[in-house]
This record gives sequence, structure tokens and C-alpha cells, in this order.
Amino acid sequence: MDKDSFYLALLGAELSVPNYISRCKAKPANTDTCNHAGKVAIVTGGSLGIGFHVSKSLVARSIHVFIGGKCRKTGNDAIKAIRKDFPNAKVDFIHLNLGSMKSVDDFADDFLSRDLRLNILINNAGIMFPPYELTEDGFESQFQVNYLGHFHLTSRLLETLVQTGTENSWARVVNVSSYMHIIGSPDLDNLENRAQAWYQYSSHKAYADSKLLILASMYALNRKLRKAHSCVSVCVLHPGVVRTDLWKHLTFIHKYPLGLIGKFLYLTPEQGADTTLYAALSPEVESVSGCYYDNSQPCRSARLTYDEDFQDFVWDKTSALVKNLAETNIE
Ligand SMILES: NC(=O)c1ccc[n+]([C@@H]2O[C@H](COP(=O)([O-])OP(=O)(O)OC[C@H]3O[C@@H](n4cnc5c(N)ncnc54)[C@H](OP(=O)(O)O)[C@@H]3O)[C@@H](O)[C@H]2O)c1
Repeated sequence: MDKDSFYLALLGAELSVPNYISRCKAKPANTDTCNHAGKVAIVTGGSLGIGFHVSKSLVARSIHVFIGGKCRKTGNDAIKAIRKDFPNAKVDFIHLNLGSMKSVDDFADDFLSRDLRLNILINNAGIMFPPYELTEDGFESQFQVNYLGHFHLTSRLLETLVQTGTENSWARVVNVSSYMHIIGSPDLDNLENRAQAWYQYSSHKAYADSKLLILASMYALNRKLRKAHSCVSVCVLHPGVVRTDLWKHLTFIHKYPLGLIGKFLYLTPEQGADTTLYAALSPEVESVSGCYYDNSQPCRSARLTYDEDFQDFVWDKTSALVKNLAETNIE
């Protein structure tokens, strides 16, 4: 069995029937007992798939939503679709390419220049299993889009989140990871998958690694926020296995059988938004921080993610990467 088939077989475990049945039995997340009107939220990748339904549901609760996305047309189409159902919706699109640190900075500058509060930051955008590609900053694409870009975005917006959170209404940072993180095993000497030859590359491993790094760094951030007594919570979640464009890079051999299974077992994008909405809105998790959610319930993430030395290593290494890049861009 080659490396990629091994990872796919593990992924298959996630699609198991018991998982599906437990989802069907799950009670709907409690998100509607609070008044969220007037809050401000950012949803990365908020114009398609799961993110679109998250954006729409936030708008439905009179939250001002900023969608961050790479494709302007998809962003504008999403806004049109949302306004069709909610003509008075407060929803804006700001261009964001998470594969470019400059673009993340431009996005943050644009948002911060509006002098708004930020109650909810949803780091949702992602790519899965693309062919080997380096970003303009020289990183493997999944590492940067799924992990590094969101790490930097969160850092740029953290001060505003801290200023927004109050004892009665904490600001929330919600990170969309994946169950696939359990097979992640990042190379500590080459966390960023830099300059790896394509023939040594497993897109499945790179995806799992990027999703595991999200957990490690968010647990580290949680410890920092608790130490500072701030009213900001951070959490990470798995949205379920959802029928979206995320699967577009699967090879034909995998796409066809998984597509068939998916028709019966995968969640719709609307259902796929439930756990994110739970984490972003539910009063049950008000001021609860440092959790990993699946199916709108707290659960355990991979054992490695709880190792505080590992969390600190990932945090320090990532911060150094961002700093080096910023210095290189100034020179
Ligand atoms: N679907 C699943 O079964 C599943 C399972 C586990 C975890 N997840 C996670 O759930 C999240 C949402 O996935 P989805 O299924 O909704 O996928 P999707 O339908 O493919 O949507 C992905 C979103 O990410 C955005 N995006 C991609 N590259 C970007 C970049 N470089 N910069 C900024 N935005 C970018 C896309 O925006 P543009 O169109 O503007 O590029 C799009 O809105 C991802 O983090 C994914 O890993 C999904």
C-alpha cells in the first residue's frame, strides 16, 4: 500500500457508519437563545461550501459579517445570494489570499481601518490535497493557506478581539480543522514543508499536518490568553465530512467511490456549518476556551496536540517564520 492510499484508508475510517449514525442522533446545537445583533464577525472562506452557510446564518442573526476570500466573483455572488434572503444584510467582502502574507496584512489593514469591534473570528478557509505547489512566500500551499495564513491573521486581529471581549460576552476565535489531524506528524525540522521535492510529497500528509498545527498553536494561544486574563476564547473543530468543492483534488479512482458513499453519508454544507455556528454562538460555550469540538460536542484531539512542549515549539517556530518573512519583505 503506498503512502497516499494508507492516508486515504485512514480517512475512510472517518466515514464509518457509526460516525454517521451518531450524527443523525445528535441534538441540534443550541445557538438561538442569545441576542447576537450588532456583533461583528469575520469568516474566511465565507463565500463557498461550509463557510457560505456560516456567513448566511450569522447574517440571519443580524451580525455584520466580513467574508474573506480569494475569489472576488465568488464573494460577490455569495453576497448577492445572502441579500436575496436578507435584503438588509450587513455583509461585506474583503479580498484575502491566505497563501500570501502580504494579502493577509492587506486584509487586516483594511478591516482594522474601519475601526470596528470584532466579536467572532472564524478561520474556516482551507484547501485539501492539491498537487505540490509553493506559495509566493515559498511555503507548501496547504501549510500556508490552512495554517500559517490563519495564524498571522489571528495575530494581526488579536488586539481588537481582546478590546472587544467583555466579562459577559467574550470574543471568540473559531478554527476549522479536521478529524484528519489525528494522522498528522509534522517534521519538526521542516514544519513548513519548505523546498520539498514533489516526488517526496504526500498531499494527504501535508493536509493532516496543517490541521494538526492549527490545534497545537491554538492550544498554545489559549494558555497565553488565560495568563493575560483576557475575555477571548479560542477553539478548534471538525465540521464533519461534508459534500463540498474541498474534495475536488481527489484522483478519479478515489473520487468516484467516495462520491458514491458521500451521496448517502456526507453532510450537506448547511449541516456542515452546525458545529462552527455552535462554537461561534452558543451560550453553552460562553467563556469556554481551549476546546476541540466535533458534532457540536467537546471531544479529545490527537494526543500530541496536548503536549505543551510541542505546542510551544510550534508557536515559537511559526512566530519566527512570520517574523523572518516580514523582515525579508522590508529589505
Ligand atoms: N468538506 C469536508 O468534508 C471537510 C472535512 C473536514 C474539514 N473541513 C474543513 O472545512 C473548511 C471549509 O471547507 P469546505 O468543505 O467548505 O471547502 P470549500 O467548499 O472548498 O470552501 C473552501 C473555502 O476556502 C476558501 N479558500 C481557499 N483557498 C483560499 C486562499 N488561498 N485564501 C483565502 N480563501 C481561500 C475558498 O474561497 P475562494 O473560493 O474565494 O478561493 C472557499 O470559500 C476547510 O478548512 C476544510 O479543511 C472540511
